[in-house]
Amino acid sequence: MNPNILILGAPGAGKGTQSARIAEEFDVEHVTTGDALRANKHMETEHGTPASFMDAGELVPDPVVNEIVNAALSEADGYVLDGYPRNLSQAEYLDDITDLDVVLYLDVDEDELVGRLTGRRLDPETGDIYHIEYNPAEDEAVKERLVQRDDDTEETVRERLRVYRENTEPVIEHYEETGELVRIDGEQTPDEVWDDIKETVEEEA
Ligand code: AP5
Repeated sequence: MNPNILILGAPGAGKGTQSARIAEEFDVEHVTTGDALRANKHMETEHGTPASFMDAGELVPDPVVNEIVNAALSEADGYVLDGYPRNLSQAEYLDDITDLDVVLYLDVDEDELVGRLTGRRLDPETGDIYHIEYNPAEDEAVKERLVQRDDDTEETVRERLRVYRENTEPVIEHYEETGELVRIDGEQTPDEVWDDIKETVEEEA
């Protein structure tokens, strides 16, 4: 059976970048609540649209996100879960619906995170992630079509980091207490981070 992997870290820690590699290497589904919500940004729910929360840097209400995660995990034969759980109540929900083989935590200092997020660019055709400085696109056609995410402006980034400290840091402590958390130094180059992740998953899963 393919492994069930959880990847945790602050906004900009490199979860999306590394999850794409994990999904390919270990042949698992990349389940990301951020992408799922962006694809349904304007969907009307009884709690409002996801966009109304996301563009302010706030969390989308638990019932909306829990339903997305439950549906995605029940269909997957092995997964890397990215962007969830964001608070303790989501972590408890996750504990009830699945078994994890490994919990990775990408540890990155806050000053570094702001620079990474405001410089991030996305290729809307392939979903590939670039950075204007650390990982610029080489191909001219790709370069021209790159976009910035609506919530990667400096003001919204600072609010996302505040929400992260308040809601998601307790999730890190939760997995520290269960003994499942493996801390990865996320300030290394993407290739060095990947080497550590690959070794950890091969050992633990
Ligand atoms: P989501 O899409 O999950 O965003 P996030 O967690 O804020 O994280 P990001 O995707 O922005 O960062 P990342 O860690 O993947 O970094 P990346 O690899 O791109 O969520 C968005 C919103 O949706 C939330 O604010 C919320 O409103 C809502 N939401 C989502 N899940 C929810 C939930 N469970 N409950 C409620 N609401 C929810 O890297 C960043 C940049 O750095 C890139 O440019 C990359 O090229 C560069 N980079 C990566 N690694 C390195 C490295 N090692 N060195 C140098 N640069 C690097």
